[in-house]
Amino acid sequence: MIKTAIVFGGKSPEHPISILSAKAVYKNIDREKFDVSLIAITKNGDFFSGEGAFEFLENGDKSKVKQVDCGIFKLFDVIFPVLHGPYGEDGTIQGMLDFLGVPYVGCGVEASAIAMHKGISRDLFKIAQIPQPEYIYLTKKEKEQGLKDALEKLNFPLFVKPCRGGSSIGITKVKHAEKFKDAVELAFQYDSEVIVEEGISVTKELEVAVLGNHNLIISPPGALIPGDEFYTYEDKYVETKTKFSIPAKIPKEVEIKIKSYAEKAFKVVKGKGMARIDFLYDENENKVFLNEINTIPGFTEISMYPKLMALCGFTFKKLTTKLIELALEND
Ligand SMILES: Nc1ncnc2c1ncn2[C@@H]1O[C@H](COP(=O)(O)OP(=O)(O)O)[C@@H](O)[C@H]1O
Ligand SMILES: [Mg+2]
Repeated sequence: MIKTAIVFGGKSPEHPISILSAKAVYKNIDREKFDVSLIAITKNGDFFSGEGAFEFLENGDKSKVKQVDCGIFKLFDVIFPVLHGPYGEDGTIQGMLDFLGVPYVGCGVEASAIAMHKGISRDLFKIAQIPQPEYIYLTKKEKEQGLKDALEKLNFPLFVKPCRGGSSIGITKVKHAEKFKDAVELAFQYDSEVIVEEGISVTKELEVAVLGNHNLIISPPGALIPGDEFYTYEDKYVETKTKFSIPAKIPKEVEIKIKSYAEKAFKVVKGKGMARIDFLYDENENKVFLNEINTIPGFTEISMYPKLMALCGFTFKKLTTKLIELALEND
């Protein structure tokens, strides 16, 4: 039996989504192969372990958990981080696990940190010649000049985003110059760096799942049409008027193009294990643009990543087994 710990919760605003994802992993993981423990991270960053870890994070019930320190990770053969956003998907916990010498599922420090940063990842996608929206990113100090440059170089509508965020938190679609400054201020509330992108006329958002270390399995794209002005937090988790179509009904040549961009994007950020790679598709112009790469995608049973991997023959159980095997592979 491989001693495995699922780590979830965490300090990011995506804490509640992480709990849902971790529950699905816990439910589906193969108990004949893996001896599974739970490690919950509170919103303050404290670690608690025990069979009541879900209840603890959900309603504060401490009866079946005990507080632990990060030395606990050394007790396991492998860690499955099911954490979304900063302090989970951004290389921080991965760095701690490398330091402790414990293998873990998914991307390493560099890929996690790069993929989390929408500006740095765009610089690399540019080097890899993957089509993407025009963009500018800036620190607080560069704000005044950055705002001028953005208004000069980019066409409305603009998307203003915290560089290291997720779940659409802090993102605004700006249609007119007078709303631009407020959008930038809002994004700076979530991060010290902000990216401004030219808006694409999206008719469908297309997402592909990547699985592997070297020989990659790349799923066919799945499509979603947001129920809101764009794919907002509300639309993702509250109102959920999004329409999904898995696999996406798109021309074969678009699918081939997207898969090749996904492979390039995964490789250029030095991806390992898994990622969900998201594209913006303008059907009228028949153009695709890379949006972002998520190194720990949503993992509930209805999430896009497991659904796309199911198209490639991976049940949820088989998928979790494969991810752990990839984590333990020596490369
Ligand atoms: N350049 C863009 N053009 C058009 N729509 C965009 C653009 N960037 C983001 N969006 C919309 O905003 C949503 C959230 O942006 P995204 O960069 O994916 O942030 P997050 O990491 O929070 O998911 C996307 O799913 C899409 O609906
Ligand atoms: Mg996104």
